[in-house]
Amino acid sequence: MKKYLILCIFSILSISIYSQIGRSVPEQTLSNGVSMPILGFGTLYLTDSIGERCVAQAISVGYRLLDTGRIYGNEEAVGKGIKKSGIKREELFVTTKVWVSDMGYENTKKAFEESMNKLGLDYIDLYLIHRPRGDIKGTWKAMEELYEAGKIKAIGVSNFEPDQLTDLIAYAKIKPMVNQIETNVFFQQHEAQAANEKLGVQVEAWSPFAEGRNGFFSNQTLAAIGKKYNKSIAQVTLRWLIQRGIVAIPRTSSKEHMIENINIFDFELDASDMQQISKLDLNTSQFPEWE
Ligand SMILES: NC(=O)c1ccc[n+]([C@@H]2O[C@H](COP(=O)([O-])OP(=O)(O)OC[C@H]3O[C@@H](n4cnc5c(N)ncnc54)[C@H](OP(=O)(O)O)[C@@H]3O)[C@@H](O)[C@H]2O)c1
Repeated sequence: MKKYLILCIFSILSISIYSQIGRSVPEQTLSNGVSMPILGFGTLYLTDSIGERCVAQAISVGYRLLDTGRIYGNEEAVGKGIKKSGIKREELFVTTKVWVSDMGYENTKKAFEESMNKLGLDYIDLYLIHRPRGDIKGTWKAMEELYEAGKIKAIGVSNFEPDQLTDLIAYAKIKPMVNQIETNVFFQQHEAQAANEKLGVQVEAWSPFAEGRNGFFSNQTLAAIGKKYNKSIAQVTLRWLIQRGIVAIPRTSSKEHMIENINIFDFELDASDMQQISKLDLNTSQFPEWE
């Protein structure tokens, strides 16, 4: 009996510690009042059984925001990972995106249904136009209708320049809430961030580590800052993004890195750190092949 009681107390304690981890990521409030975690998990290239395993592991260590896209070919794997994790749907914030070949009113409605089916969900937290190509107007109309029907909690765009965002807002009935753009220490997007925020749009950073390009993981400036706080280059970079109020979605297939990347809420970069990082800006995309 004593042994059973100790076991019960231990289980209750671990559940409460676990759910505290789940709620411990601070949230950003979007223009429509919906809140999204400031740190999430990117899933590009994480397909099939690896995708499923990574998503379940990411959830188990505390990630609640998951970022996928129809073009990643892994919505099914992400859905399986969610199921495997056993998490309650309402605790998650799931993003997916409509791809270039599905632009236009009818195509978008169809693509959205397919994404939901693959993910095994009955609503999406954030649905984005992946790239500013094709019939944006028709796609946006479809997204507005899905939003009004309660099938999407927030709508937005990705890879939109400020002028493209302004054009969209001019005819939109519902304004975009998020713009997911490449943002990393080599492409810091200060002007774009100011322009997005002026339009009431939350910036979300894709490729926060520039996928390791340009010697990112051995950058001396970031390593020296990290040394002061006993933090890694990855942690300093994520901290720099969230201190700017930018949502970040790093991707990793390693559980160790998942834990490392979420362990950024116990230190703060000072003004001189922020200034040193600002000097790393090359103000150019690290992915010219995607332009
Ligand atoms: N909207 C768009 O157009 C767009 C475009 C690109 C990406 N995205 C989204 O943004 C997400 C993130 O971008 P990304 O996947 O391109 O790249 P990323 O997050 O900048 O970098 C991923 C790379 O960093 C490594 N890494 C992660 N954590 C690490 C750590 N703590 N220490 C050392 N290495 C670490 C990973 O290797 P390991 O696996 O070995 O850890 C992987 O090679 C994507 O997954 C996707 O969801 C969106």
